[in-house]
Amino acid sequence: MTGKRSGGDGSTTDRREPTHVRDAAGVEDRLEYETATSTDLEYETVRTPVLVIGAGAAGARVAIELAESGVESLVIGKRDHGDAHTTWAAGGVNAALGSLDEEDDWTIHAADTLDEGHQLNDPEAVELTTREMPARIRELADWGMPLDRTEDGTINQRYFGAQSYRRTCFVGDRTGEAMLETLIERARDLEVPYRENVMITRLLSDGTRVVGAVGFDMETGQGLLFRSNHVVLAAGGFSALYDRHSSRDDENNGDAQALALEAGARLLDLEFVQFHPTGMVGERYGEEWDGRLVTEAVRGEGGRLYNTEGERFMERYSPNQMELDARDVVARAIGRELEEGRGTENGGVYLDISHRDDDYVRERLPTMVERFESLGVDITEKPMEVAPTAHYTMGGVDIDFRTGETGVGGLYAVGEAVAGVHGANRLGGNSLAETVAIGKLVGEHVATVIGEADTDPDVTASQRTLAEREFRALEALADADGDVAPQTLLDDLGELLWNHAGILRDEAGLRAGLEELEALRARTADLDVDGGLTSKSFEYAVDLSASLTVAEAMLRTALERTESRGAHYRTDYPETDGEWRVNLLVSVEDGELSIRRRGVGDPSPPVQEALEEGYELDYHHLE
Ligand code: FUM
Repeated sequence: MTGKRSGGDGSTTDRREPTHVRDAAGVEDRLEYETATSTDLEYETVRTPVLVIGAGAAGARVAIELAESGVESLVIGKRDHGDAHTTWAAGGVNAALGSLDEEDDWTIHAADTLDEGHQLNDPEAVELTTREMPARIRELADWGMPLDRTEDGTINQRYFGAQSYRRTCFVGDRTGEAMLETLIERARDLEVPYRENVMITRLLSDGTRVVGAVGFDMETGQGLLFRSNHVVLAAGGFSALYDRHSSRDDENNGDAQALALEAGARLLDLEFVQFHPTGMVGERYGEEWDGRLVTEAVRGEGGRLYNTEGERFMERYSPNQMELDARDVVARAIGRELEEGRGTENGGVYLDISHRDDDYVRERLPTMVERFESLGVDITEKPMEVAPTAHYTMGGVDIDFRTGETGVGGLYAVGEAVAGVHGANRLGGNSLAETVAIGKLVGEHVATVIGEADTDPDVTASQRTLAEREFRALEALADADGDVAPQTLLDDLGELLWNHAGILRDEAGLRAGLEELEALRARTADLDVDGGLTSKSFEYAVDLSASLTVAEAMLRTALERTESRGAHYRTDYPETDGEWRVNLLVSVEDGELSIRRRGVGDPSPPVQEALEEGYELDYHHLE
């Protein structure tokens, strides 16, 4: 794979020092690294008891738990160490601490989560998350996370959309970054090994279970065979497939879901894509900023939305919860304002926090202040221009939340890669919560099933054959010299999804989307990869196949669900239909995507009680 071919001297293995393990004194002794040379391929083999694919908060939390239980793992990430998508999570993380609103407790947090998810959530997943969170936040604080504090030193909490109480803990508006730094520091103390710049292209399966993963080093092009009997997928969601999104451009493109599906796992609820109401408007701030998040914390701290007529339009759509209603409600309201001609010439509406004290805004929203300042806008004085942006995917791999098991032996999943906690729409602040709450449980479970034979697993000839087949396919892809740049196809896919599977959907649009997708897929036969195995062009070419698979599943499930619920709004079926309180499961049967329905469970009695109580934020208390 490196382009550095061997002389064809048969299958030999040579021991060598690991080259990319960072920040983990002594791990060289624990991980098994080899260079394997078969007839004309040179690649590296790494053996590890547990392989964690994805280096954001979820992956880090799994690895920490494993390390605390005395189990070794290797965490791999696509980018430099510490640089994961989690760093872009801004406004906060939910835990029913009751710091400011003593009435709050985990059952009300669970009820809010189920309400926002329109009862399509897995109630057990919700309860595991909300029940765990107070302990997880205190633990993060103990590990050094610099959470904002009240004057008496209690962990501070802010309002966030659709939450009955102040429940969102925060570090200014850089909560994800602070959380990841804390987790990384903890992992470093526990000597968790980490390997950066690795792209996984296939899970290794022996036909009955997953036994590792295959990919390449993005800096050197070296092929990598990871041999492990326990593989945890923590590689994010797929909102970046959309033209306008708040994610980092080259991540969250569905690779976790496509890898799992190909290995025989099921995907769930793919039709539910969250559009965050307030993304930056590219026409106003420059294309590189298009869709970037203006954190919900702006509205949590009192930010108000206005149209060009100076009307605080949420009064018409949601007079009680106003700007802090659920994200789908606020996003559709903005969409309606734009459609009816009350948006700016750049295609946005105004979000204004200038009525609040300057120092307060600077203290609570430092990243926003700084970012807009760098663009010549003082948000303590002037409003921002915002419009909805694809932000989060509620759908993902179907797992058992107590264990992370996917139904495929040896394969677990966690974080935004999975579906279940959020149902039809996610409560802001619950994504970071899920990563640490469920991450701990998954780590705990994997630690209990590790056996002696998992510590130093053999690499069989058939595993090498499978890996080598993949390496050859990757080399062929890197050599593709057709006429279409992979980036062009990803851009076209982004537009297709924005146009046909966006905030509003209907049958005609979704069918047109599927037809366009087929045409797009046909163009992949003519790819032009520019720059070989270490190029961006090659990375995009690899992304394409996963992205097309997940996009197709998304379009098909959106077409199948003939109702509106949460983030999935069908203009041809605008009502929520009780018959549709089911999850849609996607699997591959005989090489084709297949969709079937599954009923949703019921919450436990205390959560049911909280649901019946009908807690709801009355926004006007805040003013
Ligand atoms: O707006 C935000 O800060 C986003 C938070 C979240 O999606 O949880």
